[in-house]
Amino acid sequence: STRIPLVAGNWKMNFDHLEATYFVQKLAWLLRDARFEYKRCEVALFPAFTALRSVQVLVESEKLNITYGAQSVSVTTQGAFTGDVSADMLTRLGCSYVIVGHSERRKYHPEDDANIVDQVRAVLAADMIPILCVGESYEERRQGIELDFAVSQVRDVTRDLSDEEAAKLIIAYEPVWAIGTGMVATPQSAQEAAKAIRDDLTGSFGAKVGNAVRILYGGSVTSGNAAQLIGEADVDGFLIGGASLDVDELAKIARLT
Ligand code: G3H
Repeated sequence: STRIPLVAGNWKMNFDHLEATYFVQKLAWLLRDARFEYKRCEVALFPAFTALRSVQVLVESEKLNITYGAQSVSVTTQGAFTGDVSADMLTRLGCSYVIVGHSERRKYHPEDDANIVDQVRAVLAADMIPILCVGESYEERRQGIELDFAVSQVRDVTRDLSDEEAAKLIIAYEPVWAIGTGMVATPQSAQEAAKAIRDDLTGSFGAKVGNAVRILYGGSVTSGNAAQLIGEADVDGFLIGGASLDVDELAKIARLT
């Protein structure tokens, strides 16, 4: 396919701005190292809000081949919303992406489908790309309804988007039982879910959109399982939590992707 693989490191609530600076410097050095033969994929980092400015300054001043984004965003544009950060603020920090609807946000914050739709719209309106997270819990997997579940999560959020908007999306398929557990999905099951999501997007928006959308796998990705997973036709990269906190490990995954 013509889709450029994406290795996305979601740092979650880890690393202050100094740790982030150190990490980015070392990552840039590792990715330049000829031994890593890094050329094919794009590498994106998702620091906490407090570290975004430090990452921006470093990426821009050193002209690093690294993109970055935020882990969530406000659905409103400005005003009396204590504690929130707007999409425009993120665009001005050079963010390319925003993770939307991560299972931890769905669980610990009142993020329902309506709120997630609004976040997607806010991100698109601010010229960034939403990385929409979906994926079943252990219960749906046990019942054997995991594909329908993930597909309907995507459908619920994308139903009112135009073809042009839908084509910009990135989807991260992250089975909740695989997040932070060391229980990675098999390549076959990651492929099955990615293909089901792509086929449904093709059904809703046409083949051009279906072919354009990058679909990532997330959940206990490491340098030990990345090569096999990326070998699957519809898996276009990874959303990585734990392993993205180890700079050598993240660079290794980038080399394999
Ligand atoms: O956003 C990343 C996912 O939640 C995966 O986390 O790689 O620690 O399993 P993990």
